[in-house]
Amino acid sequence: MMNRRNLLKGAAAVAFGGLLSTESSAQDPSGPQEWGGWFTDAAGNKHMPVVKVTREGEESTVVIDVPHVQNAAHHISYVRVYTENRIEVASAEFNTTLSTPRATMTLRLPAGTKLFAVSDCNKHGIWYTEFQV
Ligand SMILES: [Fe+2]
Repeated sequence: MMNRRNLLKGAAAVAFGGLLSTESSAQDPSGPQEWGGWFTDAAGNKHMPVVKVTREGEESTVVIDVPHVQNAAHHISYVRVYTENRIEVASAEFNTTLSTPRATMTLRLPAGTKLFAVSDCNKHGIWYTEFQV
């Protein structure tokens, strides 16, 4: 029987492993894939951020657009950019009726840095798109 301390260690390992694993998103290419509470879909999905990157010197201009409805009942609350270790780099929040889920961010990271653009739908969860600056 597992004591409380070992049970907590096991739960922490599962949660931490889920955050850092990059393999679960590649297990089955059909349909939405979950990675540590975030979802992606190789076939595309209206929740997934569409990312365009322009690099100039040490700065990258990142335009993130989510082609999703935006109204009080169903909307994108925010977009955020994270490193592969889930350190937040930048974010933008959206009003449900007075804004469009689109943001421009200027990042200062080495060329080739792997990042994740994340969008949060109030009805369908958190979705991501992997990209590089
Ligand atoms: Fe949605």
